[in-house]
Amino acid sequence: MAWDFQTIRNQAQKEADSICDNTSLESFRIKYLGKKGLIPQVYASLSTASKEDKPLLGKNANELKNFISGLIEEKKLSVKDTINQSSKSNIDVTLPGVANDLGHSHLLTQTMDEICGLFEKLGFIVQEGPEIETEFNNFDALNIPSNHPSRDGFDTFYVDQVDPGDKDKKLLLRSQTSPVQIRVMKANKPPLAVVVPGKVYRPDAVDASHSFMFHQIEGLLVDQDIKFSHLKGLLTTFCNRFFGDNIKMRFRPHFFPFTEPSAEIDISWEKGKKDWLEIMGCGMVHPQVFKAVGYPKGKYTGLAFGLGVERIAMLRYGIRDIRLFYENDKRFLEQF
Ligand code: DAH
Repeated sequence: MAWDFQTIRNQAQKEADSICDNTSLESFRIKYLGKKGLIPQVYASLSTASKEDKPLLGKNANELKNFISGLIEEKKLSVKDTINQSSKSNIDVTLPGVANDLGHSHLLTQTMDEICGLFEKLGFIVQEGPEIETEFNNFDALNIPSNHPSRDGFDTFYVDQVDPGDKDKKLLLRSQTSPVQIRVMKANKPPLAVVVPGKVYRPDAVDASHSFMFHQIEGLLVDQDIKFSHLKGLLTTFCNRFFGDNIKMRFRPHFFPFTEPSAEIDISWEKGKKDWLEIMGCGMVHPQVFKAVGYPKGKYTGLAFGLGVERIAMLRYGIRDIRLFYENDKRFLEQF
């Protein structure tokens, strides 16, 4: 049998080049040097070769065997190398694991959840309203006169879009959560009790205590015989549950167009000291507001309140700058 030694070498070289692990190296070895491999077949063919051909065939067979053995030795080394390298980059099981960075609710969300939760235990339902409101809900229906300064473009963000229900008026970014009172009363008959968390917007210059966007929680309770004593009892209970039993509270007379009478609630932690901190506005729903939502005259009375979430969280946790809430700095957020 005539062997094409050059072609066999080229073929073997090609196969050797693609060997990358011990398994492929072993099949290569078996193919050429194994008992039934090519090299033994070449040697076997010596017995049938003619006298003249034998010496050259023997020489070629030896050279081919050496060549293949060389390839195998070479490959043994390089396969070992790559195995070493990959074991170097393998995971070091002695290292501590990489824990997933689990997030949690933002402090403002936690505070809103906690406040709403306290009112829910007292029978209130959580409601939300849209951040783009009508002038009617944000002002008119709340008995805020058309010449009131808060309606000015300096104090309210108006949207470049007219109110589809009243083409003479523009839509706006609500400046308070109170318009949701109007939506709730229009959609429901008393008795009703809701708390409304949400974002509000005012074009204030940003500083340590002001932001163009902040959060409020509104409260509204309407029934047939709601009195100021209910308001005092409810909000005293809330303040004690939220701030603790050791606070002092006072209801200070104030003015809001949508409540009459109206008050602001101040609290103080330190005995004897006069540093009262204002925490929320409240009052008895103004009859004009009931009129605006179409409730029959004199049938219902109600109480309402509104508080600023950032302000309350700042007081409770000693946070000095409102901007910290919005900067998303984990060093701040992780503390709560
Ligand atoms: N809407 C008021 C504000 O933004 C807060 C407020 C005060 C809401 C008294 C009320 C209330 O419901 O009765 O300043």
